[in-house]
Amino acid sequence: MEKMLLIVSFLVVFMVCHGGATDKLRDDIEMLHELETFDIEEADDLDLFDIPSFESSHSNKVLVNVDAFGAVGDGVADDTEAFTSAWKKACSTAKSVLLVPQGRRYQVNATRFKGPCAGKLVIQIQGTITAPDEPKSWDPKNPRVWLVFSNLTQVAFQGGGVIDGSGSKWWAASCKKNKSNPCKGAPTALTIDKSSSVRVKGLTVQNSQQMHFTISRSDSVRINDVKVSAPGDSPNTDGIHITESTNVVLQNCKIGTGDDCISIVNGSSNIKMKNIFCGPGHGISIGSLGKDNSTEMVTRVVLDGALIRDTTNGLRIKTWQGGSGYVRGVRYQNVRMEDVSNPILIDQFYCDSPKSCQNQTTALEISQIMYKNISGTSKSKEAIKFACSDYVPCNQIILNNVNLEREDGSAEVFCNSAKGIIHGYVNPSAECLTSSDKGKVIKQPTEAESIQTSTDYIIHTEL
Ligand SMILES: *[C@@H]1O[C@H](CO)[C@@H](O)[C@H](O)[C@H]1NC(C)=O
Ligand SMILES: *[C@@H]1O[C@H](CO)[C@@H](O)[C@H](O)[C@H]1NC(C)=O
Ligand SMILES: *[C@@H]1O[C@H](CO)[C@@H](O)[C@H](O)[C@H]1NC(C)=O
Ligand SMILES: *[C@@H]1O[C@H](CO)[C@@H](O)[C@H](O)[C@H]1NC(C)=O
Ligand SMILES: *[C@@H]1O[C@H](CO)[C@@H](O)[C@H](O)[C@H]1NC(C)=O
Ligand SMILES: *[C@@H]1O[C@H](CO)[C@@H](O)[C@H](O)[C@H]1NC(C)=O
Ligand SMILES: *[C@@H]1O[C@H](CO)[C@@H](O)[C@H](O)[C@H]1NC(C)=O
Repeated sequence: MEKMLLIVSFLVVFMVCHGGATDKLRDDIEMLHELETFDIEEADDLDLFDIPSFESSHSNKVLVNVDAFGAVGDGVADDTEAFTSAWKKACSTAKSVLLVPQGRRYQVNATRFKGPCAGKLVIQIQGTITAPDEPKSWDPKNPRVWLVFSNLTQVAFQGGGVIDGSGSKWWAASCKKNKSNPCKGAPTALTIDKSSSVRVKGLTVQNSQQMHFTISRSDSVRINDVKVSAPGDSPNTDGIHITESTNVVLQNCKIGTGDDCISIVNGSSNIKMKNIFCGPGHGISIGSLGKDNSTEMVTRVVLDGALIRDTTNGLRIKTWQGGSGYVRGVRYQNVRMEDVSNPILIDQFYCDSPKSCQNQTTALEISQIMYKNISGTSKSKEAIKFACSDYVPCNQIILNNVNLEREDGSAEVFCNSAKGIIHGYVNPSAECLTSSDKGKVIKQPTEAESIQTSTDYIIHTEL
């Protein structure tokens, strides 16, 4: 209640100072309250999770060991058929555990492991699964995927093992590495598609050909203690990619790759990320969205607790000119950044294309984006950048206790067509959000000025 009163009193002050209808005030209060409080259960709340742990439950489980189906596990032999046979058995058997034993390397081609299965299934990966490393002999029927698990309900991936895409030859063949290479996509190492009640706990996904781990068209997914790693210069190797999925929680994940640590794209809502380490990479992204005039949306995303280190971006929302749809209801809180080039960025002029992109009159609508308790160091001058569409402005951006510094003290905030609320201590000063001027850059105030301005807000720092 006290909190609400603070928000209300703050908004009254804000509205009196800036004018505006009381309807808008009421809407803003509701919006802020909603944005501050919405949450997604992070506990093992899914029906699935009465599965006892593998170690403690040998008795009532049917163990399906890939070795029993002829897998060799020497890292050289082709174990694809052993895996597909073992899958058939495990998937058609109630209470089964598909076991990939420890201490070995199983080479497996592009494979689709399809459900529905007979019952709850545990996929116990203790050893390493590797992909054949030669792009030239990759299965042409599956150019964009390696291991796909689809149409499953109630499945737990666990075991501490490794999924290794052996991606180095793919990276060298990328047009981002060498402009004379053709631009074509490479496989995603691990995909969970059209599934629900999925838990992934304690696995490493590394050196993927392209994206590491995609969650698509799925619902109720819990990812815990997952590590993703690839060299910082490997092209397009996103860490965890979420598309058309709802109710997804990522927790305690350590991600370092050559592209976005996490990317959340179209059709995703109710996504929570908690205790994330990101770096190297391109940061934690929503988007890209709106490519080729598409209509796309992302809503209700929370990031609570992250350390982002040595990345090109920190918290980024990226959309193409010409798209439609929206990004609405995002709360970033308790984030520490170290040596991040663009710590806070909304980029509605995103253009990941060899050709330059024309500006257009349509764009996704970005609103209700809260940054709360964000601190650290920026490598570039524009520590905070809201580059929004001239035709579809960003609205209701809230900065609450944000402190981003640059070594030489010259950090700035850039706004184009962005409106919002500044609240608590915000450095560098982001007044361009509350003024109606477009394209205005406000320099960081001197020490004395910044103390002066910050006292105006001190009573509101509870928010
Ligand atoms: C997915 O599983 C459902 C049953 O759970 C089944 O009816 C459907 O045919 C399956 N779809 C595919 C593409 O296998
Ligand atoms: C796996 O890929 C290799 C190389 O393309 C191929 O020779 C082999 O037949 C494939 N295995 C299966 C089971 O399809
Ligand atoms: C790029 O690829 C071309 C053609 O394959 C090759 O001749 C050239 O050496 C490559 N450049 C680099 C920097 O690897
Ligand atoms: C965006 O996601 C929605 C919801 O899943 C889907 O219906 C739509 O086709 C997607 N749009 C694009 C452009 O992929
Ligand atoms: C997107 O729409 C613009 C404006 O109507 C048009 O000029 C452009 O060709 C369209 N782009 C694509 C990829 O369809
Ligand atoms: C602010 O975030 C940092 C992590 O960056 C955390 O250690 C600290 O406890 C947070 N402060 C509050 C008041 O929640
Ligand atoms: C697109 O619009 C932005 C904002 O007004 C401007 O800074 C940028 O130069 C424009 N880009 C092109 C290609 O016209």
